[in-house]
Amino acid sequence: MFRLSPLASFPLRFSAYALSLLGLIVSLIGLTFADADWGWGVLVFGLLTALGTYDVCQRGRTVSRNYPILAHLRYNLESFGPEIRQYFIQSDTEEVPFSREQRRLIYQRAKNVSDKRPFGSLHHMRHPGYEWMSPSLAPAHIDPSSLRLTVGAERAKPYSASVFNISAMSFGALSANAISALNDGACEGGFYHDTGEGAISPYHRRGGDLVWEIGSGYFGCRNEAGDFDPERFRENARDNAVRMIEIKLSQGAKPGHGGILPGAKVTEEIASTRGVPPGRDVISPAAHTAFTTPRELIDFIVRLRELAGDKPVGIKLAIGPPWEWFAIVKAMLDTGEHPDFVVVDGGEGGTGAAPLEFINRLGMPLDEALLLVHNTLVGAGLRDRVCLAAAGKLVNAFDIARAMALGADWCNAARGFIFALGCIQARSCHTDRCPSGVATQDTLRGSRLDVPTKAHRVASFHANTVAALAEMLGAAGLHHSSELGPEHISHRLTRHEVKSFAELHDFLTPGELLVGGAERHPVFRDYWESASADSFAPPETLAKLRDSKLY
Ligand SMILES: Cc1cc2nc3c(=O)[nH]c(=O)nc-3n(C[C@H](O)[C@H](O)[C@H](O)COP(=O)(O)O)c2cc1C
Repeated sequence: MFRLSPLASFPLRFSAYALSLLGLIVSLIGLTFADADWGWGVLVFGLLTALGTYDVCQRGRTVSRNYPILAHLRYNLESFGPEIRQYFIQSDTEEVPFSREQRRLIYQRAKNVSDKRPFGSLHHMRHPGYEWMSPSLAPAHIDPSSLRLTVGAERAKPYSASVFNISAMSFGALSANAISALNDGACEGGFYHDTGEGAISPYHRRGGDLVWEIGSGYFGCRNEAGDFDPERFRENARDNAVRMIEIKLSQGAKPGHGGILPGAKVTEEIASTRGVPPGRDVISPAAHTAFTTPRELIDFIVRLRELAGDKPVGIKLAIGPPWEWFAIVKAMLDTGEHPDFVVVDGGEGGTGAAPLEFINRLGMPLDEALLLVHNTLVGAGLRDRVCLAAAGKLVNAFDIARAMALGADWCNAARGFIFALGCIQARSCHTDRCPSGVATQDTLRGSRLDVPTKAHRVASFHANTVAALAEMLGAAGLHHSSELGPEHISHRLTRHEVKSFAELHDFLTPGELLVGGAERHPVFRDYWESASADSFAPPETLAKLRDSKLY
């Protein structure tokens, strides 16, 4: 980042302003007594002097008051900094949050151009953390179109899902054209498009399969007070395009945060989509009002399923303290009911806008979260009835394969698909000035995104990624993604030590938790028995300990 030199102290720091003023005076004299060419000097120095005067008089930016005119150099460099680093400095494999290598692959797959690389890997295979998939001497062939699975097999309207889908992003966070292109792409490629919590907009109704996400704001199914409205829910949920319902409990990038859409952004269109008054702030509370305990959550799932005409209903969550997730599974066991699917969102997930601490430090990263959820469902004997999806920086075939090795049945991508729409990772989603017209409500910027071109790119990114996955699985000697297990992925711990995921991680056996097996696994030993279907609260012993301050 550009720093002003310590030499530029008073009066040097006013030199640009002083020189501009001097230039203006000289130009004015020249214009008066010599020829008209001095007019250019008057114009240039006049503008600079006006800028300097504004800098000195304004109160918002201290740096500008101290360094009139010069400070703009700093502000401009600061705002171009990410682009400069991105284009000139950053290495191909550095992730900020997505590396150039990751993005280039997405762009190539989206544009249907060759994604092949010459010469060899850029990765350091001897460095700790390096991971790879084991190839087989008996490779198989997989038809990419076979990489699907049935979600909600017990339901009247089960859904055949692709192993790779568009993760939740609302109309409001994304532009109308971006939503339209995602939906058209999903329709062309035969995969699903998650609406995000901002309800089903007209741009979602273009033929693509929808997973309708219900967040704590109940957009599209709320009454005037902002609570859940069953009749409005039934109306939308029975739409043929809606294939599954997803209750959003939390999101990896900002768990427990809720959100606010400022009144200025609540246009007539967004208001009618979400079922809120236009021009007024729209609040998504941090917590749901339709349920407060794990048991009530399961009851709510059952209720939504009935209202939706027996379509699959699932939950999306970021994992916090293990006892809260255990409590949900206890409620499944107690009631004999369960969600049809669980989407685990890793702490590395993205968002349109969230506080830095939430983005960086709140919530469990995907690997640990996925493993915990998978293990609990296996241990509780529910894994064969509850499908498991994962989201969190999964953009290529290996990312998907390693998530599957940790328990996922399918994967979702949000940012991967917006790269396919042309996102350049400018990270200005929260400013409404997204340069690629993806994450903005500025109609001029958004309208520059060409829907047919980008829709085809979305479909191509999906098709080429799934084809790459099919090839990888085939090279490992597998015939379907469901055959993938932790034994197929290896992880380098040190220069001389390597373990497969099967050796590295602790896996529960089916039904183990039902027969006292929790004792054999650390997290389960500590929190499984005490978790209750009726509360998200920590175990009583833990609460007492904290109260006593005796630690
Ligand atoms: C612009 C943007 C908007 C998002 N909006 C939502 C949302 O409405 N609901 C939700 O559950 N997740 C939302 N997410 C999170 C994604 O659905 C996803 O879970 C997360 O970004 C991880 O996936 P990724 O790493 O592929 O982006 C949003 C993410 C982005 C980037």
